[in-house]
This record gives sequence, structure tokens and C-alpha cells, in this order.
Amino acid sequence: MKKILIIVTMIIFGILSCGNKNSADKGEKKLVVGTDGVFPPFGYIEKGELVGFDIDLIKQIGKDLGYEIEMKVQPFDALIPSVNAKNCDIIAAGMTANEDRVKKVDFSNTYYDSGNSVLVKSDNTTIKGIDDLTPDMTVAVQIGTTGADKANELKKQGKIKDVKVNDGVDTCLLQVKNGDVDALIIDKPVAERAVKANKAFKTVGETLDAESYAFAVAKGDKALLEKINKGLENIKKDGTYEKLYKKWFEGK
Ligand code: ARG
Repeated sequence: MKKILIIVTMIIFGILSCGNKNSADKGEKKLVVGTDGVFPPFGYIEKGELVGFDIDLIKQIGKDLGYEIEMKVQPFDALIPSVNAKNCDIIAAGMTANEDRVKKVDFSNTYYDSGNSVLVKSDNTTIKGIDDLTPDMTVAVQIGTTGADKANELKKQGKIKDVKVNDGVDTCLLQVKNGDVDALIIDKPVAERAVKANKAFKTVGETLDAESYAFAVAKGDKALLEKINKGLENIKKDGTYEKLYKKWFEGK
């Protein structure tokens, strides 16, 4: 009887203690990181492998902290629900830390300064910036992004006709190239990479509102946040961050 009681107590305790904990709290030396893999050069698939600045960065932070990093690919708009449901511990997806999202998740210190920009076909002579978009035009965006927010706002104001929402950047670029849409609103470094790789595109106008990327954890997961911030600080101090920055933004 006593034995059964001990076992039952242990099971209950076990259930309670793993309830709302991340992999690190569970004593595992592993952190599961969510990303969408369709946002080059921060996270994308190349030759069947998930690569990118964010991927390298979080792996190095994991290494610094002594954690194995397991990447979990899921759609961008599923990442916040996923981290809160403990399907992953961290989001690393070029995610802008903004007021809206901070209601749902907690953000680390920022690791990259960015902002949206407008991309059009190189031979487009009418759109020189966001203010040149007109009520007959359609704009492509990536699902759940700040670029999508911006385009939806323009549509609501009657300044553009429609918004085409896609999972990945490549589909958005294809739509610009084919003339299915007039422009794409996407993060500046992502647009710049596309322009560099393909003469069919150019960016126009100023960068829209300033945004900064941060890693996100479930709301209230302060312990993990502190770990990430420490790791980020360490890899900035020892030159790893700079090396990765050069690799992804100056080398390619
Ligand atoms: N920085 C923008 C945002 O947070 C775009 C991020 C898109 N990232 C991605 N992995 N698809 O909304």
C-alpha cells in the first residue's frame, strides 16, 4: 500500500512539475527553437538544410550556454501560439519586437535593426515609394508580418485595392516578377538580398518605421529570457556575433 502511495505521489508530482515548463527547466540540455524557414537570409532552406543568420545565432547562443538546439519549422503566424503552448521554447524568425506581440510573448534584447521596405520590378517607373501606391494596386506580403499589417492598413484606408498573403518570401517575389502584384512590402534586408540576387527587382523609397528583431519566449518565462540575453551578450563580446553578421550580410 505504502509503495503504491509513493508511486502515485511521484506520478502526480511528475505531472505537476512538467506542466508548464520549458525544455531547460525540465532539466534537459536542449532547447527547441521555432522558425518558419521561408525568410532569407534569416532562416531558409538551402539544399535541403535550414540555414540563416538567426539559425546560426541561436545555435551559437545555445552552444555558449551549453544547450543543444533543436529547430522546429512551422508557419510564421503559428510561432507565437506554438511558444505559448510549449511546442517550442524560443522563436528565432526575424521577429520584430513590437507592442502588439509583447502582450502575448516576452522578447529578449534585440539582435538586429530593421524595418519594412517596398520592392517593385526594376522596370517600374511609377512607384517610387509607398506613397505612390494607388487604389487600383495589389501588394504582396508574408503572412503575419508587420509588412502584412502595413498593407492591410493601406487597404482599409482605400489606398490600395488588395493584399496577397503568402507563406514565404519566394512566392511574394514570384508574384512581383510575374506582374500578379504591383509591389511587395517586406523587411529591408530581405528585399535587399532579393535585389542583389535578381536584377528583375529594386527597392524604392525610404525604409518604413524602424523595427528591431528579438528572440521570443512564452509570456513570463523570465529564466529562459535571462539565459538568452546572457548568451547573446557573450557572443557579442567574443566576436561571434560580428563574424556571423559579416557572413550573412557582407559576405553574400
Ligand atoms: N520582421 C517582420 C515581423 O516581425 C517580418 C518577420 C518575418 N519572419 C519570418 N520568419 N517569416 O513581422
